[in-house]
Amino acid sequence: MANVAVIGSQWGDEGKGKIVDVLSSEADVVVRFQGGHNAGHTLVIDGTTYKLHLLPSGIVRPGKLSVIGNGVVVDPHALLNEIKTVKSQGLEVTHDSLLLAENASLILSVHSIMDQAMEEARGAKKLGTTGRGIGLAYEDKVARRGIRVCDLAYPDVLKEKIEKMLDHHNILLKGWGAQALSAETLYEELMSVSDEILKYSGVAWKRLDEEHKAGKKILFEGAQGHFLDIDHGTYPYVTSSNTVAGSAAAGAGVGPKMIDYVLGITKAYTTRVGTGPFPTEQENADGEMLGQRGHEFGTTTGRKRRCGWFDAVLVRQAIKTGGIDGIALTKLDVLDGFDELKICVGYEIDGETFDHLPASCAAQAKAKPIYETMPGWSETTYGARSYAQLPAAAVKYVKHIEELIEAPVALLSTSPERDDTILMQDLFID
Ligand code: GDP
Ligand code: IMO
Ligand code: MG
Repeated sequence: MANVAVIGSQWGDEGKGKIVDVLSSEADVVVRFQGGHNAGHTLVIDGTTYKLHLLPSGIVRPGKLSVIGNGVVVDPHALLNEIKTVKSQGLEVTHDSLLLAENASLILSVHSIMDQAMEEARGAKKLGTTGRGIGLAYEDKVARRGIRVCDLAYPDVLKEKIEKMLDHHNILLKGWGAQALSAETLYEELMSVSDEILKYSGVAWKRLDEEHKAGKKILFEGAQGHFLDIDHGTYPYVTSSNTVAGSAAAGAGVGPKMIDYVLGITKAYTTRVGTGPFPTEQENADGEMLGQRGHEFGTTTGRKRRCGWFDAVLVRQAIKTGGIDGIALTKLDVLDGFDELKICVGYEIDGETFDHLPASCAAQAKAKPIYETMPGWSETTYGARSYAQLPAAAVKYVKHIEELIEAPVALLSTSPERDDTILMQDLFID
């Protein structure tokens, strides 16, 4: 087994960054394949915290290749700012260590302006987006009026493309009584960074093919989570990309057979940022305790994350529809000190029992969780590095989750630090 796809199995923020960092010690290449700087991946290495949004988590390890694949939507200004930030933290980012796919789509300022304006127009029904223009950039991509990294090399064509793109957006802006945007301004915004961006750009699919042929190990780093997926998530309260491992191939430019193992990153409880159905949410002292102990504030927007009990129905659904082979169970330590723990094993909707989350948003909003209760533990699991260090009740909790979700726990995480991890299966055995 060589190439691993790491994806979120809940609503994001499961700890993907930490796990990619742990696994990248044995990988050669780390690739992002969807999403954009709506992601916020936190890595803690010997007390130093790195918050990555667009850069693949492999960037913290010297000698690894980081690739931003064609499926990612890239805000060039955000990318350059992030490179500056991590460089100020002592990391090296060079044209050899970072490769940006020439066919990745760009996020322009019009996209974040429109994202925020649309959220405002939705009023109480807003989606709670990150306001980064992610959805709008994907809309333009699918509508075939998007601007891509490779367009920066052809300024004349770029200008025409921006004008065409703005024809669309300005009609909307005028309809809202807002001021139209100038193509010249957007053009200058891009031209001011185009040389720097083009230095990182290249033919990512070809490089990945070469690395693969040379026997190098590739990690595919997902962003967001299964229930934010545009098809499989709690639509319309989702992001605008496919977050499942199935999109790793298309979003990186490799064949689906290149992915040997799909690792679903799964929090030992559940959180969600932004609006949308969340059956096991605890708007009470338990939810507060989870949030406080887990420091549940968004890495990208700083918003307080909503917290609730572990939902085995959701995670099992992510495993089935996302082809997850095994999970990394993170933040087990946050559950230390609870007298008892609840796990959702089904839903009741209008008097009917469900073993899955139905697609209708109206039904999802009515889903009442059916819980099993398990005893908690008073001992600390924080920083545990071996299974033997875990209290018996914690082991029972983990084992029961494995049964309910019908997949093994391949890895356990017990603190934000890189080394506080228990490896249950070697994912990189050839
Ligand atoms: P991602 O978006 O999936 O990469 O996750 P985030 O970085 O947004 O959020 C996960 C948070 O939990 C970060 O602050 C991590 O440092 C932290 N974290 C990751 N694993 C663990 C763990 O096992 N225990 C604790 N206490 N914190 C963790
Ligand atoms: P990582 O990779 C958690 C959520 C937003 C909002 C919805 C749509 O750190 O797990 P968007 O800006 O994407 O159009 O917002 O998706 N969202 C995330 N929630 N973690 C993320 O990324 C997220 N990226 C987007 O809060 O509800
Ligand atoms: Mg995050």
